Amino acid sequence: MSPVRNTKLSIIGAGSVGSSLAFAALIRGSAREVVLYDLNASRVDAEVLDLAHGRQFVGASRITGGADIELVADSDVVVITAGAKQKPGQTRLDLAATNARILEDLMPRLVELAPHAVFVLVTNPCDVLTVVAERAVDLPAGRIFSSGTVLDSARLRWLLAEAADVAPQSVHALIMGEHGDSEFPIWSDATIGQTPLRDWTDESGTRLFPRERLESLTSDVVHAAYKIIEGKGATNYAIGLSGARIVEAVLQNERAILPVSSLLTDYRGISGVALSVPSIVGSQGVIRTLDVPIDEVEVDLLHRSAEELRASLAHVL
Ligand code: 2OP
Repeated sequence: MSPVRNTKLSIIGAGSVGSSLAFAALIRGSAREVVLYDLNASRVDAEVLDLAHGRQFVGASRITGGADIELVADSDVVVITAGAKQKPGQTRLDLAATNARILEDLMPRLVELAPHAVFVLVTNPCDVLTVVAERAVDLPAGRIFSSGTVLDSARLRWLLAEAADVAPQSVHALIMGEHGDSEFPIWSDATIGQTPLRDWTDESGTRLFPRERLESLTSDVVHAAYKIIEGKGATNYAIGLSGARIVEAVLQNERAILPVSSLLTDYRGISGVALSVPSIVGSQGVIRTLDVPIDEVEVDLLHRSAEELRASLAHVL
């Protein structure tokens, strides 16, 4: 993919997530210029050098970076990955207080340097931090949002695709709510191709997704990150790819429908928290959230997720 002319993506944080996002953006050609910033000069310089050495193998994107925050000046999109990350067994919400303070310190400076940028939170708990960031600066609605359950929905689609032996791109399924333990799948309108998930059968005509299978798939998605963190200390590749995908929707003004998390106002009666609902994403960030048909069980789960997040917000605001 050739990057859109003169577009600038800055990534805050050169840890495993930020560096993987930079790597994904270079390979996908998400932006013409990719800037990686971190307080840790030796780390970020090493990551930038290692990425730059592969430039001949990717498109026209350039990679630069360093420990000088002025490098992010005039960015079109700023993705924030900096902060404490989950330790084995820790929930994402456990990180709220620590990362909220980091973000409150960072946001005013970032907006001063890149006043026209769209800001995408990846740092966890990304839903809570979206509200913290909104309150730390004064930007038009939608210009700050988080990657939300784009990654979780990708995990669900992969699991369903593997079970059905089809391409993940042909699976239409969605996780809504918190990017965290209270997230939930929207089974009511999930399809494989045009076939409702509940009607999908294998070649012998056996239905592949009875209720108990769906419950186990839900658990696999909710616990995916814990399993990976237990094994290798962090997740990074799929969140890096998810972030690059979101960046492209903004930089190319795609008006793509993605389950990102933005501050809601009277969404099914929910206001004052950010959580993932299907949203139209374009050059100004979240352009519109979409009130999709969900059943009463799913509405209840959405409200429960909102209450979890409201309780966590109350501790950090
Ligand atoms: C993930 O879901 C840890 O939020 C990160 O991979």
